[in-house]
Amino acid sequence: MRKILTRVNSERGRFGSQLGVILASAGSAVGLGNIWRFPTEVGKGGGAAFILVYLGFILLMAMPVMLCEFIIGRSAHANAIGAFQKLAPGKPWMAAGIMGVLGGFLVLSFYSVVAGWTLFYTIASASGWLQGETDYNLTFNSFVSNPWHPLIYLAAFLLLTHIVVARGIERGIEHYSKLMMPLLLVIIVVLVGFSMTLPGAADGLRFLLKPDLSKVTPEVVLGAMGQAFFSLSVGMGCLITYSSYFSQETRLVRSALNVCVIDTLVAVLSGFIIFPTVFSVGIAPDAGPGLVFITLPNVFSMIFGKIPFLGYVFALLFYVLLLLAALTSSISMHEICTAFFSEHFKLSRRKAAAIVTTVCLLLGICCSLSFGPWQDVTVFGRGFFDLFDFTVTKFLMPLGGLMMTLFVGWYMDRKLVEQQLTNDGTLSVRLMHPLLLLIRWVSPAGILVIFINELFPLFIK
Ligand code: PHE
Repeated sequence: MRKILTRVNSERGRFGSQLGVILASAGSAVGLGNIWRFPTEVGKGGGAAFILVYLGFILLMAMPVMLCEFIIGRSAHANAIGAFQKLAPGKPWMAAGIMGVLGGFLVLSFYSVVAGWTLFYTIASASGWLQGETDYNLTFNSFVSNPWHPLIYLAAFLLLTHIVVARGIERGIEHYSKLMMPLLLVIIVVLVGFSMTLPGAADGLRFLLKPDLSKVTPEVVLGAMGQAFFSLSVGMGCLITYSSYFSQETRLVRSALNVCVIDTLVAVLSGFIIFPTVFSVGIAPDAGPGLVFITLPNVFSMIFGKIPFLGYVFALLFYVLLLLAALTSSISMHEICTAFFSEHFKLSRRKAAAIVTTVCLLLGICCSLSFGPWQDVTVFGRGFFDLFDFTVTKFLMPLGGLMMTLFVGWYMDRKLVEQQLTNDGTLSVRLMHPLLLLIRWVSPAGILVIFINELFPLFIK
C-alpha cells in the first residue's frame, strides 16, 4: 500500500515555481466572479457600502478558509476527496471533498455558459459587428435564448479548458496561468486608464468610494459573503487540489495573502472600469447580470460613435479580459474533478479530463437551454442555471468552507497545522495566533450564523 502511495505521489504533477503557485491560484480566484458578478453585486448593493462589507468577509472568513485548504492539500498531496481519506480515514469529513467534486461539476457547467457568451462577445467585438448593433437588450436576449447558438460557444469554451487541463500541471495550468495572468493585469490597468478619462467619470468614483451605510441591509450582507467565497474559489476543494501540487518550500500564509490581494484588487479595479463608464453615459448602475452584456456594449458603441478607434479597442480589450479571467478559473474547476477521477480510478489525465469535459458539456447544455426552450423546466422552482448557481454559491461553498475550518481548527493535529504554516519550523509566522483564532472561531461562527439566516427563510416559506 505504502509503495502504491509513493508511486502515485511521485507521478503527481507539481508547480515548478513560487510565481507559478501564486499566478495559478490567483488565476483560479480571478474570474467572471470579479469582473462580471462583483460589479453586479456592487451595483445592487449600493456601491461603497457593499465593498466595505465584502472586504470584511474576505479578510475574516474567506481568507482563513483558503489557508485551511492550503494546509489540507499540502499535507495530503491528494485530490479533494482523497485528501480527507488520507488525513481522516473512515471519518465523515470526506463529505466535504465529495461536495467539492460535485460542486466542481456544477460550477463548471453554469460558468461555461456565461464564459461561452463572453467568447461570442469577444468575437463579435473583434469583427466590429458588436459596435454596429442598435438594441443590445434584444441582441443579448435573442442570443442567449437561441437553442443552438450559445451551445456552440459553450462547447468551444469547454474545449479550451479541456486542452489546458489535459496538458497537466506544469505544462498546462502553470504555463498558461503565467501567460494569461500578467496579460490580464495589463489589460485591466489600460482599461482603468480609459474609463477614468471619460467625461463624468467622477460620479462613478463617488459611487465606489463614498459609503452610504444605510444601504447595508441583511440581504447585502448575505450577498457579500457569497461573493467573497465565490470570488476566492474557496469551500469547494479547488485550492486543496491546487495546493496538493505545492512544494514543501511554498509559503502558505504569504501565498494566501498574495492571492487575496490580487483577487480583491482585480475586483475593485473592475468596478473602476465599469462604474465611471456607466455613469459617464448616465445609465443606472444596478442593471444586474446584464451590466456586462447589455449596458457596457451600449457604452462602448457610444464611445465608438465619438472616437471609433477608442470604442473598438475598449470593447475588444474588455471582452478578451473577461475571457482570459474565465479560462484561468474554469481550468481550476475542471482540475478538482479531473484530479479526483484520475487518482481515484487510476485513469490517465487525458481520459479523466475527457470524462469531466463530457459530463460538464451535457450539464452545461441543460443550463444554457434554461435561458431558451427549457425556460419553463424547473427543479425545486428553479431553472437549471439558477439551480446550479444557487446550490454551489449558497449551499456547497459555505458548508464546505465551514467543514474545512472545523477540520483544520479542531480535528487536525495542531502540530501538523503549525508545521504546514511554518514549513516545518523554518519560517517564523508572526500572524500565527491571529490566524488560528480566525480559523478556529471567527470564520466558522460567522459562516454558521449567516448560513442559518440564509436557509431559514427557505424552509419556512
Ligand atoms: N473564483 C472564480 C471567479 O471569481 C470562480 C470559481 C469558483 C473558481 C469556484 C473555482 C471554484 O470567477
